[in-house]
Amino acid sequence: MVKVPVQFTLNGSEKAEFIDSGATLLHALRDKIGDTSPKGGCHQGTCGACSVIIDGELRLSC
Ligand code: FES
Repeated sequence: MVKVPVQFTLNGSEKAEFIDSGATLLHALRDKIGDTSPKGGCHQGTCGACSVIIDGELRLSC
């Protein structure tokens, strides 16, 4: 699988990682970055367990 470079700020800390191109944000946060605060639930966009805030807007990370 192709890895793509991503850079972002997570709770005030700069992060840079190579993430699988098909990975969800949920997978990247939990398994690559080590932030387990967003949880996996339905993985279909209905339960909201994976919610994160991106640029001030609530988004689903799955
Ligand atoms: S895991 Fe349920 S909406 Fe994302």
